Amino acid sequence: MRILVTGGAGFIGSHVVDALVEAGHDVAVVDNLASGRRANVHPAARLHMLDIRDTGLDAIVTRERPEVIVHHAAQVDVRKSTAEPIHDAEINLLGTLHLLQCALRHGVRKVVYASTAAVYGEPEYLPVDEEHPIRPLCEYGVSKHTVEHYLHMYAVNYGLDYTALRYPNVYGPRQDPHGEAGVVAIFAGKMLRGETCVINGDGNQGRDFLYVADVARANAMVVGEAGPRAVVNLGTGVATTINHLFEHLAAATGYARPAVYGPAKVGETYRIYHAVQRAADTLGWRPEVTLDDGLANTVRYFAEHGAAARP
Ligand SMILES: NC(=O)c1ccc[n+]([C@@H]2O[C@H](COP(=O)([O-])OP(=O)(O)OC[C@H]3O[C@@H](n4cnc5c(N)ncnc54)[C@H](O)[C@@H]3O)[C@@H](O)[C@H]2O)c1
Repeated sequence: MRILVTGGAGFIGSHVVDALVEAGHDVAVVDNLASGRRANVHPAARLHMLDIRDTGLDAIVTRERPEVIVHHAAQVDVRKSTAEPIHDAEINLLGTLHLLQCALRHGVRKVVYASTAAVYGEPEYLPVDEEHPIRPLCEYGVSKHTVEHYLHMYAVNYGLDYTALRYPNVYGPRQDPHGEAGVVAIFAGKMLRGETCVINGDGNQGRDFLYVADVARANAMVVGEAGPRAVVNLGTGVATTINHLFEHLAAATGYARPAVYGPAKVGETYRIYHAVQRAADTLGWRPEVTLDDGLANTVRYFAEHGAAARP
């Protein structure tokens, strides 16, 4: 099958490309390399270096003739979305709308969308299922959720198939250890460099940490007929506290320094983990990689590929 992956040079998108290529699909990537890297892109995939807002997107979709678009390109930084909400909306909302318009014009069958737990805000109940109220606490959550409405509407009005996968905290190789987000990559990088790790808040906040290969596998499952026209949570179904994560990573890296505690960050959910029954029922998907194995793989990757501080 011909598949176009946006954001396929990024952390999660590049693992999705790997899984799709390994499953025998013909894969093209659109990525402006804002945070992605050319080296992340599987050699069998064609990389088009382009912004999803660029008018040249239409020509690429014309040329590539994808049956399915897997949409991962996004402004992914929660804090940046709050500092620059218009920039966030330009990429996550208008950029996505531009992509969906191209998909309609060129008869794309299905769009697979990378949504997020950030749509839920602070949960009213746990685990959070797909029927939970939508109350995002950051602009990123608003922009990512709004696209889910477009997808539903385009399916009803124009027959464009879709599945929106709501990811929890995803971690694994190739995550940016220098960014403001991605606590596993940040701590692993700092520990390997022997730097101080700062925990924002008391460290008892809990998140659902899902290994990236499990996310890629879910994407590969829904590009075909499988996958409802609906949102589907992915996750492990359990919360891991930041303190627990710190201890795990310290053990895996041999880091002996204590954590330093800083102020809690505005706009961050305190405790969340996903119910994943719908993914099990509709896709037969369940998480397969344990936290121990996933963290070990991630630490090994950063140790081998260098987690050196940026100059
Ligand atoms: N990492 C997580 O824990 C997580 C959780 C929930 C949802 N998501 C979603 O998963 C997707 C991938 O996130 P990630 O963590 O891999 O981030 P990432 O920054 O590694 O990947 C995003 C990719 O999109 C590209 N990109 C950004 N703006 C673009 C634009 N205007 N045009 C073309 N390409 C552009 C970047 O260069 C990068 O390669 C995003 O849609 C994100 O919202 C991620």
